[in-house]
Amino acid sequence: MKSINLLTNILFILLPFSFSFGQNVTIPIETENVATVLKTNENNRLKIIYFGKSLSNVNEYARTGEVFHFRTGGANSNNNAYAVAGIDNNFIEPAISAVHVDGNNSLDLLYESHTTSQTADGAILTTVTLKDPIYPFFVDLFYKAWKNKDVIEQWSVIRHTEKGDVVLNKYASANLYLNNKDYYLTSYNGDWAKEMQPVETHLRQGMHTIESRLGTREHLLTSPNFMLSLDGKASETSGTVMMGQLAWNGNFALQFETDVFKNLHIVAGINPYQSAYQLKPNTPFETPHFVYTVSFEGKGKGSRNLQSWLRDHTLLDGQGDRLTLLNNWEATYFDFDQDKLVGLFGGAKELGVDMFLLDDGWFANKYPRNDDRAGLGDWEVNRKKLPDGIPFLVREAEKAGVKFGIWIEPEMVNPKSELYEKHPDWVIRQEKRPEIYFRHQLVLDLTNPEVQDYVFGIVDNLFTENPALAFVKWDCNAPVFNGHSKYLEDENIPQSHLYVAYSKGLQNVLERVRAKYPTVPIMLCSGGGGRSDYNLLKYFTEFWLSDNTDPLERVFMQWNYSYYYPAITMCSHVTDWSKDKSLKYRIDVASMGKLGFDIRANELSERDMKFAQQTVRTYNDYKDIVWHGEMYRLASPYENDMASLMYVNGQKTEAVMFNYLTNWRYLAEASLRPIKLQGLDKDKRYRLTEINLYDGTKTPVDPQKVYSGEFLMNVGFNPLVSRNRTSVVIKIESVE
Ligand code: DGJ
Repeated sequence: MKSINLLTNILFILLPFSFSFGQNVTIPIETENVATVLKTNENNRLKIIYFGKSLSNVNEYARTGEVFHFRTGGANSNNNAYAVAGIDNNFIEPAISAVHVDGNNSLDLLYESHTTSQTADGAILTTVTLKDPIYPFFVDLFYKAWKNKDVIEQWSVIRHTEKGDVVLNKYASANLYLNNKDYYLTSYNGDWAKEMQPVETHLRQGMHTIESRLGTREHLLTSPNFMLSLDGKASETSGTVMMGQLAWNGNFALQFETDVFKNLHIVAGINPYQSAYQLKPNTPFETPHFVYTVSFEGKGKGSRNLQSWLRDHTLLDGQGDRLTLLNNWEATYFDFDQDKLVGLFGGAKELGVDMFLLDDGWFANKYPRNDDRAGLGDWEVNRKKLPDGIPFLVREAEKAGVKFGIWIEPEMVNPKSELYEKHPDWVIRQEKRPEIYFRHQLVLDLTNPEVQDYVFGIVDNLFTENPALAFVKWDCNAPVFNGHSKYLEDENIPQSHLYVAYSKGLQNVLERVRAKYPTVPIMLCSGGGGRSDYNLLKYFTEFWLSDNTDPLERVFMQWNYSYYYPAITMCSHVTDWSKDKSLKYRIDVASMGKLGFDIRANELSERDMKFAQQTVRTYNDYKDIVWHGEMYRLASPYENDMASLMYVNGQKTEAVMFNYLTNWRYLAEASLRPIKLQGLDKDKRYRLTEINLYDGTKTPVDPQKVYSGEFLMNVGFNPLVSRNRTSVVIKIESVE
C-alpha cells in the first residue's frame, strides 16, 4: 500500500495540479509512527481530519475523519489547516490575520494545489498552496517529515501580488488540531540562574499561551520548548506525548486552545506582539519552523527523537567532536592580567582539558571593561591588562599545550563606551525617552546592515589576527527595551518590523560568520541560558544552560533540558558555586554533558587534582557515548530522592550510568530499590564497573559480576546512592 502512496507522490511531484471546486483531496503527512491528515471539504477549504498513529494502508487516511462526530453549533468547525481571521465561519484563534491593500481585513483560504517530494537532506516535504478566492493572496504550508526520527517541521510562506503592501497582523508558522481529550502541558518558566523550571498544566478550557516578548535574550523568562501529554499524563516509558519548540531566535507565541469538544487547537509562530508586518507584493515571507515529535511510548522516546534529529539534521557539527575546557569567568571574573591568565593555562593542561577559554573583561581602553558597567562595544584589547595582546595569549596557551578560546558579546553596547559615543544611532533606543538598561547595557540595532557589518567584523578581526583561535563564546545579556530603530525610521520601514528584522539581521551575521569560518566551535550563551533555540543551533556547536552551576540545581536543570537537547550541546562546568557538594559530585554532574571547568585549578589539593585528572581521562574514554549515544532517564529527581540516567552506544555494547543523590534527609530512600536500566540488549551480558572514584575508595560494585541485559532492564541494578555515596558513575560494558 505504501507503494501506492509513493506513486501518488511521484505524480504530485511531476504534475502538481489543483482540484476543481468541491473535489475531495486527502493529504497524509507521515513519519514512521505519526501521521497528520489534511483533507478538503465540500467548500474546498483545507481541514485537519486526523493526528495520531500512522496507518499501513494509506488509502484509509481519507476515512479517518468519518469516525469523529463533533456537532458543530455556531462554528463550522475548528479543524482548519490554517485558521484565518475574517471568514470561514471561524471563531477560533487565527493562524493568520491580514489587511489587504484596499483596507479589507478578511481572509479566506481555499485549497489550490500540493506537491510532495524528497529533500536533499532525506526528508519528505509536502507543500500545500492555499489561495484567497477574491484577492491574489497565497499561503504555502510546508510539512517536512523526518521518517525515522518521527519529527515534523512545519512552517508557512505568505505571499501576494496585490497592488501595494498587505499588513500581516499575525503570521503563524503552524496550525494543528488534535482530537485527544485529556491534555497535560509542560511549559518552562525561568529567570537568571533559574532556567527551565517546569510546570505542568491540565488544559481543560480556553487558551494557554507560552510566549516571549524579550526580542534578544528571548528565553530569560520562558523557554520555547513544550511537552504535551495527549491522553492523560505520560511517563518516561508510556503514554502519548508531543514535544518540541518554535525554532526562532526572537519573540515567540505557542497557543494551546481547548475547545468545547475537548479538542486542542495549536497555533505556533512569531509573537505578533508589536510586530504587524507590511508585506510587499512578490516578496514571500517565510516563517520560522515549528518542530515537534510525537511518541506513543512516553517522554523518553520523544526526547531521543528530538536529540537525534537535532544532532543529525540541525546542530552545527552534531556528529563531531567537542573541546573540553577551563574557563576563567568564575575563577577571576574581571580581575585578571596577562600573567594571571598565563598562570591559569598550566592549570588547564594539568587538568587534562583541551582548551582555555578567556571570558569577559579583556577589552576596551577609554572605558576599560573592569566590570559590567563599561566598555561593551569597544573590542580592542585592554592594553593595561594584556599589553601583548591576544596573539601573545594564543601563543602562550599553545606553549602550555592547550588551545585558546575567547568570549565576545558582539550585539551589545554599554552607554559608557566609545562605540556609543560615536554611533548613538546604532543603538536600539527611544530618542525621546529615558534609556532603560539591563545589566547596564543596550542592544545594537541589527536591522541596520552597517551594524551587521560591524558585528561580523568583531569575529572576523579576531580570527584574522589569531588564526589559531579555537573557540568562541558568544554572549547576549540584554533583552530589547524601548524598542526603536533609527535605521528603520530613516528607511521608512515601520517600527513594527523591528523584532523580526533584528532576528533576521542576527541570522545574516551568523550566515556570514559560518560561510567564512564553517567549523570553529562557538558556544551560544545568553546571560546564562537565555538562548537555545534550534534555529540558532544551526550556527552553534553547544550552548550555556545557566550561570547556575550548583550541581544539585544542575541535576534538575540538565534533566529538563535533556528532553529537547542532546548532551553534546549542553555545556556543563565544574565550578565553586556550591562548595558544600564534593568535587566528585560536581565533576560527576558536569560529566553528563559537555565537560568543562571554571575553577582556580592551581588551588586544588594534590589529591583533588589527581582525582580531577583521572576523571577527565575517563571522560575522554566514554564521552563519545554521552555525546552521540542514546539517552535514557531512569529515575526522576522530581519523584525520587535521587536522579538516575544513562547513555548507551549504538551497538549496545557500552553505556554509562549517572546517579545522584538529590535529598540529603536521613529518611531519604535513594538506595532501597534497584534502578531499571534501559536501552541495553536483553541477550547481551554486561559487566558494571564504578568509575570516578578517589584512589583507595572502596566500592560495593563488583566488576567481576556479570548480568544479562534482561536482568538489568527488568530487575535492575542498585548503585547504592546514599549520603556516603552522593554520586555514583557506572561504566557498563558487554562481555563476550
Ligand atoms: C553571562 C554568562 O552567562 C557568563 O558565563 C559570563 O560569560 C558573563 N556573562 C560574562 O559577563
